Amino acid sequence: MAELNPETTRNQAEKAIFAAQNLKDLERIFSYYLGKKGEVKKFFEKLKTVPAGQKKDWGMEANELKVFLEKEIAERKTVLEKSSSRRGKKKFFDPDRPGRKPEIGHLHPLTQAKREIISIFTSMGFNVALGPEIEDEWHNFDALNIPKDHPARDAWSTVWVKSSGEKQLLLRTHTSPMQARYLETHQPPLRIIVPGKVFRYEATDTSHEAQFYQLEGLMVDRSVSAANLKAVIGEFFKRFFGQDLRFRLRPDFFPFTEPSFEVAMTCLACLGKGCSVCKKTGWLEMAGAGMVHPNVFKACGLNPKEWKGWAFGFGWDRLAMMKYKIDNIRLFNSGDLRFLEQF
Ligand code: FA5
Repeated sequence: MAELNPETTRNQAEKAIFAAQNLKDLERIFSYYLGKKGEVKKFFEKLKTVPAGQKKDWGMEANELKVFLEKEIAERKTVLEKSSSRRGKKKFFDPDRPGRKPEIGHLHPLTQAKREIISIFTSMGFNVALGPEIEDEWHNFDALNIPKDHPARDAWSTVWVKSSGEKQLLLRTHTSPMQARYLETHQPPLRIIVPGKVFRYEATDTSHEAQFYQLEGLMVDRSVSAANLKAVIGEFFKRFFGQDLRFRLRPDFFPFTEPSFEVAMTCLACLGKGCSVCKKTGWLEMAGAGMVHPNVFKACGLNPKEWKGWAFGFGWDRLAMMKYKIDNIRLFNSGDLRFLEQF
């Protein structure tokens, strides 16, 4: 048996404890040195055979070694426990797993409808024109053959804007002023659509809002007819609603068109059975339309003998309502996520 030397045992043990990488290593070291048959035990056993004069010193040294190793092992244990619990918390990372999708918003149903409408009309050769929401009286009314004091002005309950200059300003009541603006600045032949926000001082119900959207259409050429108008509307409906549906033109009155029509379609909210959206008639008014009135050409500096045209003004909210089967126009501006998340 090799000579027992507390100093050597202590150094060896110290190195081993420091090198221990985990709790299992440390347990092994513990039982090797401090276990029932461990190294430290040998020192106490040797106490029996040590000459009487050395017993006290030997006993003290053995005891010191024992206390020292216990302390060292306990300290190393705390360090290893901390690092192993840190490692335990680290989640297993699987690079093949698909990532978690961040929640992002999506386009409002009216915007989705607008994009589809624009793509249908641009494919038919229409350009998109945009006009101001704060409009002047001339373009909203006068140029459209609605002079001051004309009773037809009452059809558009107007929100007037306090104006400091000569021009009386208002929130446009329809997108038709863009007919005049465009004709003033462009030479026919031309084909445009004008999507835009409009405002009316009106009570609201399931199919009326005080702020809503319209889609104006205007086509001017040397020979265009109401038959062209009907064909374009029919083609638009077919592509937008994905089906051949029933629609009708009935005589109506607008000062800026002659003749004028009301365009109505089978109510898709109830499939013509009658509901609150169509006021139990089975039909929903979708647009006003007609042949451009000669006075509008004149007001815009064009010769009505040379040019013919047609125009329509759809309720774009109503188009979206019919397409997505929405039974209340006020839902669009409600900001209600339960509604919006369906689209
Ligand atoms: C007009 O505003 C005309 N500018 C339409 C026009 C254009 C006629 C070109 C001739 C030529 P009207 O006020 O009827 O007409 O409105 C047109 C469409 O807008 C209606 O058919 C309806 O679909 C929609 N609309 C009208 N008022 C409201 C409202 N308060 N809320 C929602 N949609 C409405």
